[in-house]
Formats: sequence, C-alpha cells, structure tokens
Amino acid sequence: MQLTLSVLKADVGSIGGHTRPSAAMVESARQRIREAIDHGLIIDGFVGTTGDDIALILSHGRGSGNSEVHQFAWHAFLAATDIAAHAGLYGAGQDLLVDAPSGNIRGAGPAVAEMTFEHHPVNDNRNRPAESFMVFAADKCGPGAYNLPLFLGFADPMYCAGLMLPKMADGFTFRIIDMDHTDGDSVLELSAPEDYYHLTALLRDNERFGIERIMRRDGEPAAAVSAQRLHNIAGTYTGKDDPVALVRNQGIFPAPEELLSPFAKAHYVGGGARGSHVMPMMPVALHTPVTGMYCIPVISCIGFSVDVEGRFASDHVDFFDNPAWDEVRRKAMERAMIIRDQGWSGAAMLPYAEIEYGGFRDTITGLVKRFETHKDGNGARRTRRSKRNGSPRKMVSARSR
Ligand code: 13P
Ligand code: MG
Ligand code: MG
Repeated sequence: MQLTLSVLKADVGSIGGHTRPSAAMVESARQRIREAIDHGLIIDGFVGTTGDDIALILSHGRGSGNSEVHQFAWHAFLAATDIAAHAGLYGAGQDLLVDAPSGNIRGAGPAVAEMTFEHHPVNDNRNRPAESFMVFAADKCGPGAYNLPLFLGFADPMYCAGLMLPKMADGFTFRIIDMDHTDGDSVLELSAPEDYYHLTALLRDNERFGIERIMRRDGEPAAAVSAQRLHNIAGTYTGKDDPVALVRNQGIFPAPEELLSPFAKAHYVGGGARGSHVMPMMPVALHTPVTGMYCIPVISCIGFSVDVEGRFASDHVDFFDNPAWDEVRRKAMERAMIIRDQGWSGAAMLPYAEIEYGGFRDTITGLVKRFETHKDGNGARRTRRSKRNGSPRKMVSARSR
C-alpha cells in the first residue's frame, strides 16, 4: 500500500505565556483523532506537544498534501484555539494565519512535514522488512534548526557510521529550499558525498536555506522537514517557525543513534527570546514546557513503529527522555549562559534583517531616521531630516561655526 505520514504542528495558545498548551487543548485534539480514525479518514494518529506547540502525527492512505487530511488538522487546531481563547490563554490561534484556507494548509501558518512511500513491511522485503520513523519537534527555533544535525546524520560518517556500509555508501540527496523566495518553492537538489562542500555553503545559513527533504539515490524518501518562514507567510512576525521533521530510520536509513548524536552538540540556533536571540538547542522529553532563560530552544524526538496496516505500535519511544541526555541538557544551559553573557552584542542576537519582532525593527528604523549626514571639507555642511516635514535641511556644522 501507499502510506503517507503527515506531521502538522501549530501554536494555538498556551498557559502563563508561551510555555505549553493546556491539557484540555491536547485532549480535544486527541478526541478528534479518535473520531477521524473511526470515520476512516486516517489510519492512526498521535498528539504530542513540544513547548507551546501541538503536533498531530498521522498515518493515512490519502497521499501528501491531501485536502481532507489538512482540513481535519486545521479544524482540530481551530477547536483547540477556541478552548485556549475561552480560558484566556496566551496567543490563542497564533499560527492560524489565514481565515479559512481551502484544501492543503501548507503556507497557512501550521508547520507541515509529509512523506508518502510504498509500505509493505514483510520479512522478504529486502529494503524495508519493518517501518520505523522519528518525529522531531523544535520550539523557539528558526526554520533551519535541523540543517546541521540532519546533514551530519545523513552525510557525515563521523556521526553516521552506516554511510560506510554497502547499503548506504551511495549517500543521500538533499533538497534545499530557499526560504527567502516567497513566490512558489525555490529548491535545489544536491547530493553527498559529491556536493558535500556546496551543501555546507548553503546550509550554513539557517535563516535562508533549509533542508526540505532527504532522499536515497533511488528516490526513496528518507526525511521531510517543514522548512518555511512564518514571517514570510504572514508578512510580519507572528511567532517563531518552530520546525518539525519526519525521519525514517534503520536498515537502508541511518539508525536512531546516528540521527540523534548531532544533537549532543546543543548547537546554537536563531530563535530564543522574542524570536531574535541566538541560543543553544536543548533536547527534552515530549510535553516539556518552555520555561528556561531567554526561552532556551527545545527539541523533542519520538519514535514509532508501523504495522502492516499502517497503524502505530501501541507505545512510542521518547528518545530524549533518558538520563543519557542529562549531560547534554547541562551543556546546553552552560552554552546558553555563555552566549547570554554577551547580551545584545553582535553574534548573541540575530542580525537586523532576521530579527523577528516588529518592535526591534521599529526602534531601529526610528533611530536611523534621526541620523545626520556630515560632509567634511570646505564649506562643510550637514543635513538632517526636519522633524516637522521629514525633508532634509542644511545645517552649519559645529566645526565650521
Ligand atoms: P512561539 O512561536 O513559540 O510562540 O515563540 C515566540 C517567541 O519567539 C518566544 O520568544
Ligand atoms: Mg507561542
Ligand atoms: Mg512555539
């Protein structure tokens, strides 16, 4: 059968500031999933939260970008928004950016990652005798937060020893999206190992270029990421991008430990407080609220197995909910405190073009208008904008006076 995995994630309200959704919101999404399974819309579904975001993880046979599945998710987010609004929660409906999107909701605010593949998990299926996958969800993070860890997990044998084995030695193809391009998707496919350096040249810029998809050389989908910039959709800051990623693992794909090891770096990403600060990414258990200094960005990762009918195994695995990750959490806090020691200076904040909150931009734009241009030499003059009508007026410089 053709199986589709869809992850749709949105921030539609949270308790006591942008921390986590309420239990009632999550229960409402779970109830809708139960109904959708009963009605045969989806095969299975799961609701997880990471910081203030709710992720719906669905399996179905309707293909990627399916209108009914997307509309189901949209209405589940609307129902949770109503609950948040009634309870007076912060940011009710924050990520639902358009009034009533018809069909596919990609580009309407929620983060979407999907993949469709042939699902035939039987013993004599040499490529995929069993299907297992992982879902990453990041809160308080920019859209390219997965660039480094996914690149290392799929292209660097220092992290993925499996790349030295015959079944993976051909490497993987990365589809990179230029997130500054708003008129349709602008994408480029590059493969490792041969395009290794070109990949790094693009992926170093987490704010502009993002891994959108990773495939095996035979086209088999390996990973899908919601690489879109919220502020490019909304035209203004509405919240942080908080991307999700769907990654198949084991066998012909990297093993979980190979995909997780890059997260031991607690690498710095754009996001953090007011969507504008550079902060390390802290791996956390599912359902962890964001309460750390400067909204230290958090990442969760859960794993699922899928039976022959497309149903999830009754339990999932919470990869970062384990003492093995305590040391990384400590390291992330140390790295957070180190960069925050530098406050607003230089690399500790995102550059002007990237700062998300309109307020920072308004402050700077207001100040830029007050700058004066000095022209030195004979007859030195300076001009500045008149407060009253905004037109430049000549002034005699202090020196020439
Ligand atoms: P959210 O998108 O998670 O609400 O993040 C807002 C933010 O930037 C917090 O500082
Ligand atoms: Mg929020
Ligand atoms: Mg969020």
